[in-house]
Amino acid sequence: MSHILPSAHDPSPAFQNQTLPRHIAIVMDGNGRWARAKGRPRTFGHERGVEALQRTVEAAGEIGIEYLTVFSFSTENWRRPLGEVNALFNLLRAYVKRDLARLNAKGVRIRIIGSRDDLPTDIAALIEKAETETRTNTRGHLTIAFNYGGREEIVRAARKLARSVQDKQIEVEAIDERVFDQALDTSDLPELDLLIRTGGEYRVSNFLLWQLAYAEITVMDVLWPDFDRAHLEQALSNFALRERRFGAVQE
Ligand code: IPE
Ligand code: MG
Repeated sequence: MSHILPSAHDPSPAFQNQTLPRHIAIVMDGNGRWARAKGRPRTFGHERGVEALQRTVEAAGEIGIEYLTVFSFSTENWRRPLGEVNALFNLLRAYVKRDLARLNAKGVRIRIIGSRDDLPTDIAALIEKAETETRTNTRGHLTIAFNYGGREEIVRAARKLARSVQDKQIEVEAIDERVFDQALDTSDLPELDLLIRTGGEYRVSNFLLWQLAYAEITVMDVLWPDFDRAHLEQALSNFALRERRFGAVQE
């Protein structure tokens, strides 16, 4: 397919000859270790982590990545000290308030995935606002996983389908992978191509369990607050070299 006019998603020149992932997810890990290494409180690491997120959203857009999904607060993060949980909530508040207008002006659509239960009401309202205001945008897609857990998402989807069966809206036999996929929070996102985890740990940590089925995974030693465009480009170069067969054999 050749483009006559450059589209919003034409890859930047450096990546024109590479296979670019369409949908990237990131486990932004290492904020606490980064702060501790500097003798600062963990929350300082989270603050700098937001700056790394801003850099990454910017770079991903410039490079031509259409979909970026980031793990911001997990259902397990409630176990952290209350002060840290509050700091993480405040950072989401600040981030949305600060960047919503700018992202909207750039044509970025924002989605928040995860459970809406147990969230402070002002955060629930802010999430609604961000999603509603950017609903018609198509130049890029930023999805923030907040109060998100992969198992919780799957259980919620199962409940939703069970309710549809109970209400006689669908037959049990009609539930297949496609129908299940459509009951998940990510129903309108494309297949996940690449997961990047910073902070050097080889774990999925309950992120996008269903969606990771065929994704490539790259673990990087860099701590999240230090992540920059060069790290993203390194992960993309790495991805371009992988051969994805989706369970089939090489042709
Ligand atoms: C990731 O950094 C941010 C969140 C999970 C919210 P961590 O806070 O997990 O940092 P480390 O792993 O302790 O270094
Ligand atoms: Mg961690």
